[in-house]
Amino acid sequence: MTHVVAVATGKGGVGKSSVTSAVAGTLAAHGRRIAVIEIDPQGDIADDFGLREDPDNDGGAAVAESILHGTSLGDGIEARDNLTYFAGGPVMKQLPRIQGWTGLESQLSKAIGQLDGYDLILLDSPPFSDELQRVSLTAADRLLIPTSMDNSSLRALLTIADRLVEVESVNPGLKPLGVVLWNVPTAASRIRTETRQVLLEILGDSFPLLKTTIRSAVATAWECRRRGMLPHEVAEMHGGTSSALKVLSTGRVPERPLSSAQNLALDYATLANEILDRLEETS
Ligand SMILES: Nc1ncnc2c1ncn2[C@@H]1O[C@H](COP(=O)(O)OP(=O)(O)O)[C@@H](O)[C@H]1O
Ligand SMILES: [Mg+2]
Repeated sequence: MTHVVAVATGKGGVGKSSVTSAVAGTLAAHGRRIAVIEIDPQGDIADDFGLREDPDNDGGAAVAESILHGTSLGDGIEARDNLTYFAGGPVMKQLPRIQGWTGLESQLSKAIGQLDGYDLILLDSPPFSDELQRVSLTAADRLLIPTSMDNSSLRALLTIADRLVEVESVNPGLKPLGVVLWNVPTAASRIRTETRQVLLEILGDSFPLLKTTIRSAVATAWECRRRGMLPHEVAEMHGGTSSALKVLSTGRVPERPLSSAQNLALDYATLANEILDRLEETS
């Protein structure tokens, strides 16, 4: 069974697009066949994949049509080997304003049902449109929530929890995959521990907090989007991901410290592994 994971929360700037593109890119580089469907008028994933100006980037037209009519998503763009990108973008801006949303929530899941040959499908979601969030959560069978450590991001978890309840009747199969702490300062271990504690209290038993955290790496993240490269690609450019991946496979600390890009690539590889494990456990 191909899992469809919605990456969503009720706030912008908390890593939804970065997590989606980096996890997708890491898994694709390791041979999994991945589709990313972007349900967001901002279309930021195009920057992450370096496809903003690509002639095949339709600014969200095909995804918008699928949301409105359940029609085929088309071929998408081959963003990398094993990685297909169905672009979001400005064409989707009008969608939340159209009348008569009732029933439209399920259209995209019909279109996704026609996709063939993927091991995993990731849905990037918008922070503000209740309608488009419901589209994303209705089409998914798992929900991954990235959050940063500030209070307003933690409160945004509650708004996405509301959406989860709203779609329950149309999509009873949607299960939580987990919450991932993102943009975590490496030096602030007390804040990290306290935030995990607060999060565990907010989440209770129903929503797991993932073990992996994604570190703060402002310069690397900036370079990634500016160049249209993913963290593991920037890490390779700066001298290889092999030592980073060796840490993952052997657990041994390398002789030389990893660069910021290597560390970020390592975080995403660890997260991708944890996601695969959890998908297997909860199947
Ligand atoms: N590990 C990181 N540390 C710090 N900033 C990051 C990191 N990863 C991405 N960013 C930056 O944070 C901003 C918001 O990330 P983004 O993934 O677009 O959030 P969202 O999709 O939730 O709006 C972007 O400018 C991005 O470049
Ligand atoms: Mg985004």
